[in-house]
Parts: sequence; structure tokens; C-alpha cells
Amino acid sequence: MEQYAIKGGNPLVGEVEIGGAKNAALGILAAAIMTDDTCMVENIPDVRDTNVMLQAIESIGASVNRKDRHTCEISGRNIVDHTIDNDYIKKIRASYYLLGALLGKYKKARVSLPGGCNIGLRPIDQHIKGFKALGATVRIEHGMIVAEADSLKGAHIYLDVVSVGATINIMLAAVMAEGTTIIENAAKEPHVVDVANFLNTMGGSIKGAGTDVIRIKGVPRLHGTNYMIIPDQIEAGTFMFAAALTKGDVTVKNVIPKHLESISAKLSELGCQVEESDDAVRVVATRQLNHTHVKTLPYPGFPTDMQPQITVALGLSKGTSIVTESIFENRFKYVDELTRMGANIKVEGNTAIIDGVARYTGASISAPDLRAGAALVIAALAAEGVTVIDDINFIQRGYEDFHLKLQSLGGIIEIVDSEKELQKFRLKTG
Ligand code: EPZ
Repeated sequence: MEQYAIKGGNPLVGEVEIGGAKNAALGILAAAIMTDDTCMVENIPDVRDTNVMLQAIESIGASVNRKDRHTCEISGRNIVDHTIDNDYIKKIRASYYLLGALLGKYKKARVSLPGGCNIGLRPIDQHIKGFKALGATVRIEHGMIVAEADSLKGAHIYLDVVSVGATINIMLAAVMAEGTTIIENAAKEPHVVDVANFLNTMGGSIKGAGTDVIRIKGVPRLHGTNYMIIPDQIEAGTFMFAAALTKGDVTVKNVIPKHLESISAKLSELGCQVEESDDAVRVVATRQLNHTHVKTLPYPGFPTDMQPQITVALGLSKGTSIVTESIFENRFKYVDELTRMGANIKVEGNTAIIDGVARYTGASISAPDLRAGAALVIAALAAEGVTVIDDINFIQRGYEDFHLKLQSLGGIIEIVDSEKELQKFRLKTG
């Protein structure tokens, strides 16, 4: 089983290109099947989740023509099946976006009910509420969600909770409905806006994405388009915090600084120097970090997907910090792993009380989920000695060439696949 072997202590220095946003790509790849024309989608991150989504749309008959690692031509012309079976949902929950896309275009869809995951129960009641409001019947049978409608009619939908997935899925179902749909209390994440922009380039008529009220005027059909996905704010934020933890000097390139504002603001509070330019942000950290407090919130608040990364940074800061996770109910599982590296953190419900320590020390640990795994990698890069991380497939779901990008910044990290390779790494890195 592949592991990351990491020797900590080197400050990360240099520039790193940020890839396309995974969470925008998953909605956009699902939306692309809503036309019989061809969509050319660029800047798709070459990560496990997007590759599984491409397999899922191919499995129902859509044509998928990979031009290169990051570019794909997609058409829904030959779709013959409206069932997404459990294989794909088990691998990535976001294949449920095909529910909205297939319902929106074909008025019928069958998708396996996604289960919970390592960070929480992940219900989809708001998605179903939206589909029903548009006139679909939705039932659960044999573990599948079956959504069908004679026709879909615009509706006024008020989300009970701000949900990225429900906002995107309802947009997909409503974009070709008769009449106008209004989504209130909508999620405002950059990836929600990117999916709305993509649908508009296909002939959709969506206004207000990025605010909490989205208006969707249904159109009879969608046409092909060429589209470039926005940069990934969470990949960028992860490298920015890696600079902070290792007392480095890292410039993340090909980013939209506006999407990183809450992350940059927290890094400044921690005592880092943060410099923004048009499509890059530089983070310089020269001394021990300050403590601070943070609460995760829907965009534009501090992202829940950056909660593990700021927690590992605060674990090395001066003083006591409090991190409150307001989005998911079980997103501190990684703290046990971090404790093995010497962290002094007490988790009480959805709050972590962090007493900063002078150093982390290398240990054998496991990645409990995607973002926590990435946070443990950057903690290991700041630790004394060697850390070995298991279950790195979680991390590879959302970070393209993670170890190569970190190597390019001076990080000592390799993928090892046996005890022998690990011993070689230990000998080589002393
Ligand atoms: C998306 O998940 C992201 N995934 C998550 O990123 C991210 O953490 C999350 O949004 C919040 O920003 C993708 O975009 C593929 P939600 P999603 O619906 O859509 C509750 C990563 O690391 N809720 O915004 O599933 C839910 O339980 C992943 O890339 C309902 O109650 O998140 C949660 O408490 C991890 N009913 C809150 O809303 C619903 O019907 C926010 O969830 C839907 C959600």
C-alpha cells in the first residue's frame, strides 16, 4: 500500500502552479452531459474524484474524449442509461450531481443513495426538497434515489441550510425547467458560481450566483461550449498554510486572490506576510506563529475544507487557540493522529482547544480523509524527523501531484510502496 514518507525541517520556498478547482469540476462535468452538442472543458484537475466522475458519465453512454490530462471533450448525445450505480457513488458522493443533470435533461434519474463519510452524515434532504419543489416525484427503492417528472416547473425554493451540493444540484435540475426558479439561502462558494457560469455559456439563464438568491430562467435546450475551470481555492490555501508551518516563502500562482481572502486574512493574523498580485499570492513566515481563533463558515467565511490546515498551524503557534467547526459534525478525527506528532489539542464536540507546542516530531500516522490528510502532510513537513502517512489515496482524491509540487518547493517527501523503500528513504534522508 503506497505511503508518503516525509522528512520534516526544510522551509518550503518557491512558486507552485495551482490546478483547477475539484469541486467546480465535479459539478461542471455533470452539467456537460445536459447537451447533445460537445463541451470542451479545460483546467480539469487530474485527480481521482474527477476521473471517477468522467468514468460515471461514460458509463451511461456520454462520450468522453480526453485531449490531455486537464482537457476533455464531453457530449451527452448518446446517453442511453439514466442510472448511476453504487460503484460511482461509493467512490465519490458528488456523482449525485448526475441526479440533477439527468432529471433536468431527461426528466428521470436513478442514482445510488450516497452514504455518510468520514466527516459527517452528509444528508441530501435539501437536494430532494428542491427536486420535489420542481415537480419531480422522488422515492428511495433498493438503495437508489429514483427521481422522475412529466415536466419540471420553476419553483421558489428556500434551503433550510446553506448547502453547496443542494444549490448546484437544484440549479442543474432547474436550468431547463419551464419558468423561473428562485433558490433562497443559496451557497455562494466560487465553485457554485463556476457551475452557474458554465451553464450560462451553454445557453442557460442563471443570475445571482455568488449571492444567497439565485434566479434560474428555464431554457428549452442547452448547447455546447468551451470553458476553463477556475483555480482551486483549497489547493491554494493548503500550500499557503504549508509556507506558514515550515517558516517558508511560497508563491501560489494561477489563483484568484479574491477567493482566498478569508485564508489570507487568517495567515496575516498568524503573523505571516501575505502579498497579493493579480493571479498570485505570496506567503512568507519567518517566526513562530501567533495564536488566534477561527470558526468555519459558508463562503465568504473561513472554509471548512481549510479547518484541518489551520488547526495544524495553530498547533505550532504561541499560546492557546480555539477552532470551531460549524459545518460538519465529525471533522476533527485527525487530531488523534496529530497528537502522535506531539500536538496538544483537546476536542470538545465541534470545538478544538489548541495549546501550541514548540515542535511536532515525526510519527507513523494515517490520513482519515482528504483535507485532514493534506493537513497532516504539511504538519509532517514542519516536524522533526521522519513521518510515514498511510491511506494517501484519500489525499490523491483532491490533490494533483501533491508530493511532486511539495518536492519542487524543497519538501522532502516521497511515495514509498514497501518497507524496503521506506528504509531506503530513511537512510537517504538521514
Ligand atoms: C461540498 O460538500 C464540498 N464537496 C465539500 O468539500 C465541502 O466541505 C462542503 O461543500 C462545504 O463547503 C464538493 O463540492 C464535492 P454541503 P457538500 O451540502 O455539498 C448539510 C472536499 O474536501 N446538508 O454544503 O456535501 C451538511 O450535512 C469536500 O473537497 C444537509 O443538512 O456540502 C453539512 O452540515 C469535503 N442537507 C452542511 O449542510 C443537505 O441536503 C453543508 O454541506 C445537504 C447538506
